[in-house]
Amino acid sequence: MSESAYDRALGIKTIGVRDWQDPSVAYHRYEATPYRALDELFRHYELREPDQVVDFGCGRGRVAFYVHNRFRIPVTGIEANPLTYEEALQNKQRNKQRAKHIKAPIRFVQGLVEHYQVEPTDNHFYFFNPFPATVFQQVVNNILQSVAENPRPVTVILYYPMPHYTRILEENTPFALKAEIKVAKVHDALEKFLIYSTKGG
Ligand SMILES: C[S@@+](CC[C@H](N)C(=O)[O-])C[C@H]1O[C@@H](n2cnc3c(N)ncnc32)[C@H](O)[C@@H]1O
Repeated sequence: MSESAYDRALGIKTIGVRDWQDPSVAYHRYEATPYRALDELFRHYELREPDQVVDFGCGRGRVAFYVHNRFRIPVTGIEANPLTYEEALQNKQRNKQRAKHIKAPIRFVQGLVEHYQVEPTDNHFYFFNPFPATVFQQVVNNILQSVAENPRPVTVILYYPMPHYTRILEENTPFALKAEIKVAKVHDALEKFLIYSTKGG
């Protein structure tokens, strides 16, 4: 199915890119994880209740809507760019009718991921190379702080995993690489998912 056909099926608009207008902003631009990559990931990796997914830097919400529609579990997206966040909210409105039979909530939060208070029920954390390593380190610290307060297995899913992200997880954290899922028929070596889990995840 094409990207636009997928968007239509979910009743959302997520195609395109948005750069930050201010060149001093170090955060990365909006572009969505390709649907064919999400299909490949979830051909190999299942989510089920009571899983709860947070997409750090969710953009217009593609991953959130895809996961919610496919697994019917709660999803949260955090987005800093006010225009992009508004588009995620518009998508939620558009998707409402199609998702009315799904009880689990979709939630979007506007703000910096660094400030997101990880919920004790959040256990899957998704990143598509959204920001510099310093921010990723801060978010990983917040996740581990939440796990220290409310012990549970947690999983980090990286799409297009940059080496500075994997280094942070592999040095001095309880995360271990659990799976590598390559996106089929793609030659870019980074077009893959790495799944890291803590014990029991
Ligand atoms: C590459 S896009 C990924 C979008 C979505 N996760 C997906 O895979 O379809 C990264 C997004 O992260 C957002 N972002 C970057 N830095 C952020 C920050 N510090 N806090 C919240 N959002 C941020 C950008 O505005 C952009 O929309």
